[in-house]
Amino acid sequence: QGPPGPMGPPGPPGPQGPPRSRHHRQPAKKNGAFSDASVCICNVLCGRETSISALFFVSLECLIKSLINPRNVTKMESTFGTWMKDTAQIDNEQIWVAEHFSGRLVKEYKSFAAFHNNSSDLVDVRKFFYGCGHTVHNGSFYYHIAGTSSIGRFNFETMKLHTLIVENALHHSLSYLLHNSKTYFKVAADENGLWLIFASSIDENIMVAQLDQTTFSITSYINTSYPCAKAGNAFIACGVLYVTDTKDTRVTFAFDLLKGKPVNMTFDLRSPGGVLAMLSYSPKDRHLYMWDNNYIRLYVVHFISDE
Ligand SMILES: *[C@@H]1O[C@H](CO)[C@@H](O)[C@H](O)[C@H]1NC(C)=O
Ligand SMILES: *[C@@H]1O[C@H](CO)[C@@H](O)[C@H](O)[C@H]1NC(C)=O
Ligand SMILES: *[C@@H]1O[C@H](CO)[C@@H](O)[C@H](O)[C@H]1NC(C)=O
Ligand SMILES: *[C@@H]1O[C@H](CO)[C@@H](O)[C@H](O)[C@H]1NC(C)=O
Ligand SMILES: *[C@@H]1O[C@H](CO)[C@@H](O)[C@H](O)[C@H]1NC(C)=O
Ligand SMILES: *[C@@H]1O[C@H](CO)[C@@H](O)[C@H](O)[C@H]1NC(C)=O
Repeated sequence: QGPPGPMGPPGPPGPQGPPRSRHHRQPAKKNGAFSDASVCICNVLCGRETSISALFFVSLECLIKSLINPRNVTKMESTFGTWMKDTAQIDNEQIWVAEHFSGRLVKEYKSFAAFHNNSSDLVDVRKFFYGCGHTVHNGSFYYHIAGTSSIGRFNFETMKLHTLIVENALHHSLSYLLHNSKTYFKVAADENGLWLIFASSIDENIMVAQLDQTTFSITSYINTSYPCAKAGNAFIACGVLYVTDTKDTRVTFAFDLLKGKPVNMTFDLRSPGGVLAMLSYSPKDRHLYMWDNNYIRLYVVHFISDE
């Protein structure tokens, strides 16, 4: 038995949070590891405005064991769509909904209560989004700008839009990264920060780019050598890319992005049928967010290290 690793991320406050169990993990690299003490100190000092990603520069080694506690949040009218909470801001209770796979308006709800009584504000994100692969991270909406090979970062507070061009990525003509959800690009947040999943236009393999949040640029590319034709949906948790089969029933491929190699890992996701429009992990609450067969749903992600 090895020594305990540094503490995992703290659970979010409030009743929506996962159980605050102790998540001991082995860091893959020693450099920059927080000690238990510094995490505790940061919990006290960093305060409300701190982005949770600041706590996460350690590459944590953890794999999903299973998905537990499925919960239907509500039924939606549209088959396609994305629902999101901010994956970084700890105290942000807002919910955003981008209905359909294309549009310019995103619904913003102040809380779950506002979501349940349909009181939203509409936000114009300045360009048309495409697909169901958006993410809200640290106060910005990241999305594929329809018809282009660019990712937009729209800041909800300043209303400014920044764009990032991604070379050699499938982005039009129905050659999707994720066919079932009509998605060319998927932005994913995990314990390590932000990633971009796309398909290489050269060989149609799934590629993952790591994003630098400060400069909104790509710092590295990872070639998973896995053809997007075999993929239903995909998400990233704890530095591992998980890809479902074309019916979205099981995770059938996993790839460790930090080590750059596949992981032998499969597990069940959902029963077949209906459209799985969206599947995203949030490192803030360690839930999987789904838009499945017109329902928005949540799963609690159970890691092997949670044992
Ligand atoms: C969620 O909704 C689906 C589809 O209607 C239903 O089959 C399932 O039993 C529900 N699950 C829960 C946990 O309520
Ligand atoms: C909906 O819920 C929000 C948050 O609880 C509340 O502020 C608002 O007054 C409610 N609106 C309606 C129409 O019930
Ligand atoms: C919210 O909208 C849905 C769908 O239009 C409707 O079924 C539901 O009754 C509405 N809820 C409230 C509280 O108005
Ligand atoms: C998060 O957003 C705040 C406010 O815009 C900014 O000051 C901070 O640098 C951002 N954090 C990261 C990690 O980008
Ligand atoms: C990805 O890796 C595969 C297998 O090694 C290789 O055939 C392919 O050319 C690579 N693709 C890119 C875009 O680097
Ligand atoms: C993957 O794991 C399964 C179950 O643990 C095992 O039976 C199988 O041999 C493994 N495959 C490879 C290629 O390691």
